[in-house]
Amino acid sequence: MTHAYPDNRFLRGNFAPLRLECDAPDLVIEGELPRELDGTLLRNGPNPYYPPRDDYHMFSGDGMVHAFRLHDGRVSYRNRWVRTDKLNREVAAGRALFGTFGNPATSEPEVRGVRYNVANTNVLFHGGRLLALEEFNPPFELDANTLASRGPCDFEGRLRGPMTAHPKVDAQTGALHAFGYCVDGWGSPRMAYHHIDAAGVLTRTVEFDAPYCAMVHDFIVTERYLVFPIFPLTIEPQRARRGGPLLAWEQDRPSLLGVMPREGSAADLRWFAGEACCVFHPLNAYDADGVIVADMLRYDAGPGFPHADGRPPDPRQAEARLERWRLDLGGATDTFTTTRLDEQASEFPRLDERYAGLAHRYGYFSTTPGAQGRAAVFDEIARYDFVRDTREIYRLPAGDSVSEPVFVPRAADAPEGEGWLLAVAYRAREARSDLLVLDAAQIAAGPVALARLETRVPSGFHGNWMPAA
Ligand SMILES: [Fe+2]
Repeated sequence: MTHAYPDNRFLRGNFAPLRLECDAPDLVIEGELPRELDGTLLRNGPNPYYPPRDDYHMFSGDGMVHAFRLHDGRVSYRNRWVRTDKLNREVAAGRALFGTFGNPATSEPEVRGVRYNVANTNVLFHGGRLLALEEFNPPFELDANTLASRGPCDFEGRLRGPMTAHPKVDAQTGALHAFGYCVDGWGSPRMAYHHIDAAGVLTRTVEFDAPYCAMVHDFIVTERYLVFPIFPLTIEPQRARRGGPLLAWEQDRPSLLGVMPREGSAADLRWFAGEACCVFHPLNAYDADGVIVADMLRYDAGPGFPHADGRPPDPRQAEARLERWRLDLGGATDTFTTTRLDEQASEFPRLDERYAGLAHRYGYFSTTPGAQGRAAVFDEIARYDFVRDTREIYRLPAGDSVSEPVFVPRAADAPEGEGWLLAVAYRAREARSDLLVLDAAQIAAGPVALARLETRVPSGFHGNWMPAA
């Protein structure tokens, strides 16, 4: 018997799980859906199958993948849980067995020490595989048409350890650049870079040690360099065994950016230091004349995470702002500089990804004028123009919220920024969602089309566009 879910900030409103898998054909469309949109918008997010056993955090809920298929002016929708081993064990038992993040203190004895994979952070089609991604585990493969679960993907045994939920598709070669951290287990500083070619074959791995073990959510790839950012959001099992937090913010440690040439080795790593801060998501980065330029969404502390001594976080530090960082590879010092570009609280940065690793003009974000330390709820889509230093927004009706916006070019050879932004809106008054399609060059005009869903897509994390085969 499944009981009611507990009261928790990550289980209220549109954070509440959708306890439903469905197929919805031919959604009602308002406006005119652009005919050139032929493919699927995929999204992933936490959706706990059973009521959590302890203090739930949204990073730890079972992944559910949502797919909006667009073809010939029509839209259909499908959603499926990612059936990880963790979820299968719980479904067999008819209740949650694992504590949040697999916490042994709150897990049933029979699953203590069993791998906790929720595959809830991102979903990406690459090399013929549809992959649900979560940074503490290898990717999990789904059927690209049905979303049926296939199982963990270790690239024919070549992937050792977990893999980031934020790999980068190389716009020139189609290869995937990826990395893993905690490769030798919780608290291990061991990291690994992986190159996966366009056919989905893992062709190269470089292992190295970070200066300390931290949560490394995302990284940076330019034409010539890989950059591994280490922020003082540290992971220490020993601290947890003493009763402290496993993940904690350590203000006294520096931020460190490890630069490696793309074809380099661990011996080529050079660490650039800066003041303590935290970035979950870079927008993009490029290198020119020996300088790496990276546009980063900076928090002044690890948002929502306690201090190492257990003190609670400052909610005013739970907002990220856009900065431009520079690493001068020919300079005399191993430090990096930061320049604030925008005071608006922003997250979920996306790009016209044909420009990934190259100089870009536009960035797209979820933003809000009034976050004030609330859990991540965004009610605007923004486009930032780095040439004109201007920001244009589309604000949703009061009470509604919106997902990360995903850019789809109008055509393969269209200029940068000519295309569509796809995002999923939550209609709070009706407790349902709409797929929004905006002209990326005129977002203030609002959606050119929307597809109405009778149900809702819970607040989640990331997704991607999968063009029609
Ligand atoms: Fe992320």
